[in-house]
Amino acid sequence: MPLTHTKELFAKALRGRYALGAFNVNNMELLQAIIEACEEEKAPVMLQISKGARSYANPVYLRKLIEAAVSVSNIPIAVHLDHGDSFELCKDCIDEGFTSVMIDASHEPFDKNIELCRRVVEYAHKHNCVVEGELGHLVGAQFDEGDEGGSYSAEGHYTHPAQAVDFVRRSGVDSLAVAIGNSHGAYKFKGEQHLDLERLKSIKSALMEAGLEDYPLVLHGASSVPKELVEEINKFGGKMGADTAGVSEVDIEVARRLGCAKVNIDTDLRLAMTAAIRKALWENPKEFDPRKYLAPAREKVKDLVRHKVRNVLCCAGHAFD
Ligand code: G3H
Ligand code: 13P
Ligand code: ZN
Repeated sequence: MPLTHTKELFAKALRGRYALGAFNVNNMELLQAIIEACEEEKAPVMLQISKGARSYANPVYLRKLIEAAVSVSNIPIAVHLDHGDSFELCKDCIDEGFTSVMIDASHEPFDKNIELCRRVVEYAHKHNCVVEGELGHLVGAQFDEGDEGGSYSAEGHYTHPAQAVDFVRRSGVDSLAVAIGNSHGAYKFKGEQHLDLERLKSIKSALMEAGLEDYPLVLHGASSVPKELVEEINKFGGKMGADTAGVSEVDIEVARRLGCAKVNIDTDLRLAMTAAIRKALWENPKEFDPRKYLAPAREKVKDLVRHKVRNVLCCAGHAFD
């Protein structure tokens, strides 16, 4: 089965009111875990590749691994460039056959962000690829310049609803990554902070009022940083801080209902893999066969992905809709 187009996956996800898991791939074990979990759960999936993954694994290895995954499975699989930081990187991925790319120019001023997105969109659309843009900064709840967790400050780090409509129209991007207090990594919030879901609701309403009813939104930084994984890492010699914090599964559920059709998860995969490797080596200090610790690591990532697609993203069972 060939790759399935990101556009087709988005259309079905929006129609079916579920979210696609966009899981980061850096090596064979992560890829196998994701694919096996989604295959067993009958879930469509987006594999995402970052610039860092490309330089770690080599783009050719990643492409061949994904080709292998596609040939041994039956589920719909799309391939996406995560956080492309230049036109050239996006072009390379488009030329390699990625079904979507993200151009992340969110650190640029509004007009410059639009200009760069526009350039990528023009090339991508000529080559049957779709583009994700980002507006606002993924810096986490504690850094918003507006009133804590909620102001519509146009100058702040969060995505402004009216600007979102303008941005989508002028840039031509096919999906939009929003900044609503989300951030990457294992230390997302201080205290009891949450995503600014009221803002997400306003962004969704603004898009609907502008005639963009079924426009796919993207939630980056969607790892939940499960306490049990952090505890396991620390129990077996790790030193993660006491202030780890992730996005609650309830918040992700609401975000999904508000049109986040793509939910990005990387950190939780890293935590699961690290916890299992630490445990295996701690319990078997004489072991030096990598398969003995990579096999349980792959199994742990697989369990995590199964849980996400079944209980959080609700895309399980939708592979053949
Ligand atoms: O958003 C970042 C992703 O977790 C990818 O991380 O750039 O370290 O591969 P990376
Ligand atoms: P996490 O760090 O929360 O897994 O986010 C991953 C991400 O957004 C990749 O683009
Ligand atoms: Zn991201």
